[in-house]
Amino acid sequence: MKRMRLGVLGSGKGSNFRAIADAIGRGEIAADVRVVISDVATAGILELARSRGLRAEFVEPGRFKTKLEPEAERRVVELLQGAGVEWVVLAGYMRMIKPPLLAAFPRRIINIHPSLLPAFPGLEAWRQALAAGAPETGCTVHYVDEGMDTGEIIAQRAVPVLAGDTPETLHARIQVAEHALYPEVLAGLARQQV
Ligand code: GAR
Repeated sequence: MKRMRLGVLGSGKGSNFRAIADAIGRGEIAADVRVVISDVATAGILELARSRGLRAEFVEPGRFKTKLEPEAERRVVELLQGAGVEWVVLAGYMRMIKPPLLAAFPRRIINIHPSLLPAFPGLEAWRQALAAGAPETGCTVHYVDEGMDTGEIIAQRAVPVLAGDTPETLHARIQVAEHALYPEVLAGLARQQV
């Protein structure tokens, strides 16, 4: 079976990346992670990648907060293409994706978002759900387009919001769902690729 060649982008601790890498290690996803890229030099995801013997690259983001400098995004494309990546997996990557990267990987960039989209796009979606008094929230895996968390939905998993939840307890519950859902979606995409 042909194995999916993945490039992972993340800005944070990398627990979704860990769940994906573990599932690959158990033989549950026919895929290989070719490179992990971060816009944050100290991000845990880079350390995790290195500790697994995977290629880990920091790309200096430039002067904007919500997107990469165009030159930096072109560098990301270069790294991904140079590593032979076919699918770009966003795992806690906190910037918008712009045309250089979108055009290089049409319908081949996926993201996980911590809400049941289209509810609560944007930052700290678990806080938004709590503030809105939503009875449930969850996570969504979707294709990435130019909008903020607007691309076509691939799969979702719901979790309850419980009395007494804090942002931290709710996010932790969502993350348990994320760590199951993201590897499942990737396994499904890998099977379709055959
Ligand atoms: C995850 O909850 C992910 O859904 C969220 O950041 C967290 C990253 O955790 N992503 C977004 O909010 C994207 N807008 P991780 O670094 O442990 O995978």
